[in-house]
Amino acid sequence: MVTSDIVEVYPERNTYFLPPHRVKSLSRKRGDGCVAIASDGVPLIAGVFQDILACMKKDGPAGVPYSRYPTHAKFSDEMASLKVQKLPKGYLFSSEIIQAKLVAEAVVCEIGCGSGMHTCTLAQLYPACEFYGIDISEKTIAAAQTRALEMKLSNVTFLQCDASNMADEWKSKFDIVFTMDVVHDLPRPDLVHYEIIRIMKDDGIYIMEDPDYHSNHADNIGIPLAALNYTWSLFRCLATSLYFDNSFGLGVMWGRERVLEFLEKTGLECFSSYSLDKTENIIYLSRKKMSGD
Ligand SMILES: C[S@@+](CC[C@H](N)C(=O)[O-])C[C@H]1O[C@@H](n2cnc3c(N)ncnc32)[C@H](O)[C@@H]1O
Repeated sequence: MVTSDIVEVYPERNTYFLPPHRVKSLSRKRGDGCVAIASDGVPLIAGVFQDILACMKKDGPAGVPYSRYPTHAKFSDEMASLKVQKLPKGYLFSSEIIQAKLVAEAVVCEIGCGSGMHTCTLAQLYPACEFYGIDISEKTIAAAQTRALEMKLSNVTFLQCDASNMADEWKSKFDIVFTMDVVHDLPRPDLVHYEIIRIMKDDGIYIMEDPDYHSNHADNIGIPLAALNYTWSLFRCLATSLYFDNSFGLGVMWGRERVLEFLEKTGLECFSSYSLDKTENIIYLSRKKMSGD
């Protein structure tokens, strides 16, 4: 804590001092606990150290199953809640083009919604819109349904489903589809993007949030959280996606140059991108490429 500039030390007096304004980020009870919550990531990835070493062996497994990360859903939910606290009201929908859609009582779907933090927050802010959240994990969908009940939301539906195979009747249903921190985790993001295009209306918008790094290692030198996120990716995101057959193995650090290329290749046209205040993430706004584009 001293070498990280959290606690101050006065060697001549042999005393330590924790400035009161830093207590907030260390304490979940008295503040947002952001340092404490982020620190929970250390035991989460330390628990799979031997699994990762096994993957490095010539005939070792290709990846690590989700079941080896029993605390991940809780960790991801707490990180999402920190993000929501830090961001301006309506954060994800702040662009004018999205605002115009919301006036018209939009139908919105979050893919990979986890425990529903973002969908529920936005559903409360936009009560005239209808929200759907889907996730492949039964456990997180159960938690999302409980959250919606506790918040007394009547404009939200959560469903357990694989995003690469959504309901036939969802064709052209949605005005807005969004993913938060999901695409780099997917073994077959191409299949999910084809489904997103199918369920979007022709004038629908896809909002994709993902970590904001570059695709080339050299371009990430000097970015404060880059080293941490290469490590996190190796131990969690890359490891879980490579567990599945034919995985693309993207990982957290696939970077904005590859994201833009990928959006284009899967039939989406990215028309705007912007960073969210005080986060390490970037938001891409895309629409369907129509034949003739
Ligand atoms: C890193 S978590 C992000 C959760 C949430 N969006 C957030 O920001 O807190 C990625 C989520 O994607 C979900 N997921 C992974 N593959 C999926 C798939 N094929 N279909 C639907 N959800 C999927 C996971 O279960 C997990 O909840």
